[in-house]
Amino acid sequence: MKLKLIKFFKDFFLWTGILQVLSPFNRLFLFIRNFNALRNWVSRAKHNSLLINDFYSWKRDYPKRYLLYEAVADAHQLDRKELLYLEFGVASGSSFFWWLKKNTNPASVFRGFDTFEGLPEDWGGFKKGAMAFSLGELHSDDPRAGFEKGIFQNSLNPFIENNINLLRKKPKLIHMDADLFSSTLFVLSQLYPFLNKGDIILFDEFNVANHEFFAWQIFVDSFYVNMRVIGGVNNFYQTAFIVE
Ligand SMILES: C[S@@+](CC[C@H](N)C(=O)[O-])C[C@H]1O[C@@H](n2cnc3c(N)ncnc32)[C@H](O)[C@@H]1O
Repeated sequence: MKLKLIKFFKDFFLWTGILQVLSPFNRLFLFIRNFNALRNWVSRAKHNSLLINDFYSWKRDYPKRYLLYEAVADAHQLDRKELLYLEFGVASGSSFFWWLKKNTNPASVFRGFDTFEGLPEDWGGFKKGAMAFSLGELHSDDPRAGFEKGIFQNSLNPFIENNINLLRKKPKLIHMDADLFSSTLFVLSQLYPFLNKGDIILFDEFNVANHEFFAWQIFVDSFYVNMRVIGGVNNFYQTAFIVE
């Protein structure tokens, strides 16, 4: 009886479109749903034994992300290990060049992906086109480093086709710093076939409920990927995972 009623109302709502009166609140409903999921995730994560964890901090201090990088690098020998470092969202290259300097293994490969024309969509207070840094401004003499210009949705698959062996064999450090839900979900889903046990994934805006967190959650739930959180700073704004 209960099921019949539910079916009746669902079909009725579909027919009448009556729930559209609530449309102005769609974003709010999504935020509440995702924020509560994030809060549940944090409640579990804060009890794990983490390399670094500052939950709860009153103040967000963006440069604290380098403490997370240091902690992850120390624990996983990322200063000397042969790596494939992939960064999605390079902008001025702050984090890209940090890792390039940190890892001294001559066999490591570093690739940074970006439009270099700014965000392809609005994100929070940032408008489409914000954070544009021209590729010409980024320079490195390090032969291990290179950049892929364009939206990930165009640039990642050609990169994958040309670098299958690299992706399969080298231990990966994947740095997600693209802010947007769409960009994050796209990249994770394309890299899914190449994720190996021990690969590390960093998120730069993990605790943004409707963006990186939501993309991460859809990804792990839909692809049945097991990632263990290993550290977080700024109340998990920056968070690191290891693939298991
Ligand atoms: C927060 S910035 C990156 C910051 C940088 N990692 C740092 O340490 O300073 C985000 C970047 O992601 C890029 N981005 C977001 N979505 C993208 C997409 N779908 N394709 C290409 N670039 C994208 C934007 O162009 C922007 O430069």
